[in-house]
Amino acid sequence: MDLLKERIMKDGTALSDTVLKVDEFLNHQIDPELMVEIGKEFKRRFSNKKIDKILTLESSGIAPSVMAGLEFGVPVVFARKRKSLTLDDGLLTADVYSYTKQETNNIAVAEKFITPGDNILIIDDFLANGEAANALIHIVKKAQANVSGIGIVIEKSFQKGGRELRDNGYHVESLARIESLSEGSIKFLDEVTN
Ligand code: G4P
Ligand code: NA
Ligand code: NA
Repeated sequence: MDLLKERIMKDGTALSDTVLKVDEFLNHQIDPELMVEIGKEFKRRFSNKKIDKILTLESSGIAPSVMAGLEFGVPVVFARKRKSLTLDDGLLTADVYSYTKQETNNIAVAEKFITPGDNILIIDDFLANGEAANALIHIVKKAQANVSGIGIVIEKSFQKGGRELRDNGYHVESLARIESLSEGSIKFLDEVTN
């Protein structure tokens, strides 16, 4: 998605070899017009899929997900990050390991919002090692629902998440794929199909 790549080049910063800062339009300040275009692009890329609902993770997954939900005409559910590990009643839960923080967090969705047979499009802002995506997949499976696809705004292709998810048969669409962040310079993966 050229508009997104141009915006990453303009406003993104390679903070290190592995971390891209995009606080100007996605992770802190949000550009609504760019989010609208992101929603439309997800609709185009998953137009042949049956999608009943979108599932994301708070907080940065919500903005692109809501715009995609508008395009598909479906509700958007966000998994909540939990402090308390007790009182699991009526909740679908999963663990997310953070490599950066080296800690495991629990996320949860109320059972009533994902029902058996639902076709779910998972959306998130970043795909790195795939921990968040795998936790969302786990929740969908616990609900006996189906993963129709995984939509990512920015994939860091040098980390293992994208490859593993595709190897496992998931339809992953990333609107921008970053090949490298070395030496402060942002390089995109050359793609024929994206
Ligand atoms: P890791 O796989 O690279 O170790 O990342 P980790 O799971 O620790 O992710 C921690 C948070 O950082 C996640 O957001 C994730 O989406 C985000 N993230 C991962 N790589 C990058 C990156 O290169 N740049 C930016 N800006 N974010 C990245 P979160 O904690 O769930 O926060 P939020 O959704 O509330 O923003
Ligand atoms: Na984030
Ligand atoms: Na995120």
